[in-house]
Amino acid sequence: MVDLYKNKISVIGLGVVGLTTAVGFALKGHRVIGIDIDPEKVMKIAQGMSPIYEKGLGEALKKSRIHAAIDFEQILDSDISFLCCGTPSNGDGSIDLRYMKGATEQLAEVLKKKKTPHLVVVRSTVVPGTTEDRIIPYFKDLAEVGICVNPEFLREGTALEDFMSPSRIVIGESEPRWGDILLDLYDDFVCPVLRTNLRTAEMIKYASNAFLATKLSFINEIGNISKKLGIDVYEVATAMGYDKRIGSEFLRAGIGFGGSCFPKDVAALVARAEETGYIPKILKEVLQLNREQPLRMLELLRKHIPELRGKTIGLLGLAFKPDTDDVRESRAIPIIEALVKEGAKVRAYDPWAMPNFQKLFPQIEYTSAQEVLASDATLIVTEWDEFNCLDYSNSIVIDGRRVDSAQKARICEGVCWEGNNNVGKEKPADLMASLDRIRI
Ligand code: UDX
Repeated sequence: MVDLYKNKISVIGLGVVGLTTAVGFALKGHRVIGIDIDPEKVMKIAQGMSPIYEKGLGEALKKSRIHAAIDFEQILDSDISFLCCGTPSNGDGSIDLRYMKGATEQLAEVLKKKKTPHLVVVRSTVVPGTTEDRIIPYFKDLAEVGICVNPEFLREGTALEDFMSPSRIVIGESEPRWGDILLDLYDDFVCPVLRTNLRTAEMIKYASNAFLATKLSFINEIGNISKKLGIDVYEVATAMGYDKRIGSEFLRAGIGFGGSCFPKDVAALVARAEETGYIPKILKEVLQLNREQPLRMLELLRKHIPELRGKTIGLLGLAFKPDTDDVRESRAIPIIEALVKEGAKVRAYDPWAMPNFQKLFPQIEYTSAQEVLASDATLIVTEWDEFNCLDYSNSIVIDGRRVDSAQKARICEGVCWEGNNNVGKEKPADLMASLDRIRI
């Protein structure tokens, strides 16, 4: 019988990255087997239902007909395996490789039975040196197993789109013959392809995320200074963005970055650098500024409501960014922790993320956007489109994300930009002090 599929691929770990990779390759005409240790997840995928909300992924999954299983033996029916397990953080910020270790061990065990060549591709984000030091040793006795590192640059919410139209494909290879196989797999993708060694490929992913995180902390710092000086940082950013060397993206100042990647990856790179004896000063400050940035909302809130005890404070937005239900490292977390500590009553609304947030904070009230706006003050934490259509006219609003219509609030303060009132605006003497501080 003629095999209609181009290649047989297995994808180990079916989170956002793994499932998107599996579905994406299936849509490109490859036969894909997805493996995960979570039976519930596997069952859903096998029935054509996406276990996560990700734009377009549910429909694509139905079309793609990928096989899903918990049984690692299924890998024997493939020639290329993508390792897509999560790489969370240890308490000290360093990378936790426990899922990678478990999956690699099982993969190596299964591949002992394989009679034909097999390519193992590390797609998970792992700190430079991991593949050589912690993954290759499992396969050292298997002559016909090759290793590549192929980092992903998928944003949540647009992951499938980013997979299908990547900005670049990075192939780190243990030997060129294995990189050639990966190059072949990506032959119908239109974008630059960079071939390099394993640890450089690993570093490209960290450097990319660390750069974007730095850009965000940078514009937030400019925003903090601008706020003191009565300058609109969004005007500043627009003009900066026209310089091609700077670029207009990732210059939206506000309460900082969250999500499953930036905070964790920058911390892991810091920890990896420190292992070598190098202290990465910029990256440490990027994280520190990002920790402080959401708490600026409380400083601004106190200008309007000096005593928070017993007051009802509403939050609009709980997801770490719009169009996702993901609350990992959401800026809402430190804000709510601080409000609860100060004795405020917290109520919140998010179009999608309330069920996930409820698992972290069962004690706060989850309600409608209208109820939130009826609080003593409202904090805008995520810039969902629908928040631009709300009636803010009777509310005190502290805006962390620059939602235009919030300017129509009774009182509106932007975290890095002017509000619509002069309450708390610096007097000339304070302004001069700020200028002095900046000169230092
Ligand atoms: C990121 C990277 O973009 C992606 O390439 C990588 O592989 C995974 O991590 P993601 O975490 O999905 O993707 O979110 P992204 O859209 O990059 O936003 C990250 C955070 O930065 C969000 O909290 C967002 O609100 C914030 N952000 C983004 C800003 O505060 N301002 C901006 O201008 C852009």
